[in-house]
Amino acid sequence: MKTYRVVLVGYGPRGKIWSQVIQKNKRAKLIAICEINYQTKNQNSLKIPFYTKIEKAIFENNPDVIILSTPPVSRIKDLKICAKYDLPVLVEKPLALNFKEAKNLVKFMNQNKLIMMVGLNFRYLPATLEKIKLINSNKVGQPKFARFVYERWRDGTTKRLNKYPLTMDQPMLWEQSIHHFDLIRYVYDSDIKSVFATTSNPPWSMYKNDTNVNAILELKNGIIINYVGNWQSNSQILNFEWRTECEKGIIIQKKQFEDLYYKPFKSSVEKKIKLRKIKMWFDDANLLLNDFFDSIKAKKNIYKINSDHLKSLVIVDACIKSAKTGKKIQIKADNY
Ligand SMILES: NC(=O)c1ccc[n+]([C@@H]2O[C@H](COP(=O)([O-])OP(=O)(O)OC[C@H]3O[C@@H](n4cnc5c(N)ncnc54)[C@H](O)[C@@H]3O)[C@@H](O)[C@H]2O)c1
Repeated sequence: MKTYRVVLVGYGPRGKIWSQVIQKNKRAKLIAICEINYQTKNQNSLKIPFYTKIEKAIFENNPDVIILSTPPVSRIKDLKICAKYDLPVLVEKPLALNFKEAKNLVKFMNQNKLIMMVGLNFRYLPATLEKIKLINSNKVGQPKFARFVYERWRDGTTKRLNKYPLTMDQPMLWEQSIHHFDLIRYVYDSDIKSVFATTSNPPWSMYKNDTNVNAILELKNGIIINYVGNWQSNSQILNFEWRTECEKGIIIQKKQFEDLYYKPFKSSVEKKIKLRKIKMWFDDANLLLNDFFDSIKAKKNIYKINSDHLKSLVIVDACIKSAKTGKKIQIKADNY
């Protein structure tokens, strides 16, 4: 079994999770951490070489892969260095905060024939995988329409959370809804056809820009999703419900990471699906990491893997365009 030598770039809250995941994964070896803020070295009790410059970290340690856990800005600088050393990259979501820039990054990695997988860890949750199985089992038939609700009071000042969302444009869409849109595409196995959306910010919001997203998403396979996502709900208890109406019944997920049920039309009780227990943020990231290694080993589908994230990011972009113009945005394949 090959051991992949990993340089982790970015040692913020997410990077710290990655460092634990990499060290637990039998196929991975954490050989260096690169973080521009030298202060974080003090918090780094690991006996891992620490760098502030990515090129030096790569040059001196000869890694097989890079995990880029930095904020989604100016990623081209680091990708250029990774490409110079012929290194595949696992990069955190969202790839960029601008659709055009994201397209350019994908083009750049494609030109270099290097994998750049974007870290959509929610795809690997048992609730997600079991929902896909349920749909394929035909127990309640094919999905036709759905309601996706995520109402959260996110305290952006909390120490364990990144700070840039407090001042960035459309923080909910780029940072959080991107996970939801990606799950919607992944679970219903279809790309987006059209988007109609509004975004807004409640008067009490601690965020500079919009934390409320209301959208109607129409997929190419005809499924219509009513999406409500926000970060400044005025309850500290997160409300999550993803309910799918199918030909012969319903599927409901009642919690963000678990609580999956289905109910055939004629049944009066919801049947709970037994889900494998996981350690959230760790086991899902570990499965993602293994998927990344498998993709490198398979040496195929590079362009498909690299461009996949654009098909979710285009929904974010369309929400922004729709909110600005008040119009429904049609999405064509040449948009991504
Ligand atoms: N997939 C998930 O569930 C999940 C969860 C949290 C965060 N994230 C994503 O992970 C990324 C990082 O999030 P975070 O919360 O750790 O952000 P953060 O801003 O708190 O931390 C990022 C760290 O990267 C460092 N950094 C910035 N540019 C760098 C560079 N070029 N080279 C080396 N270090 C650099 C910063 O100094 C900082 O310490 C973001 O894209 C975020 O959206 C994903």
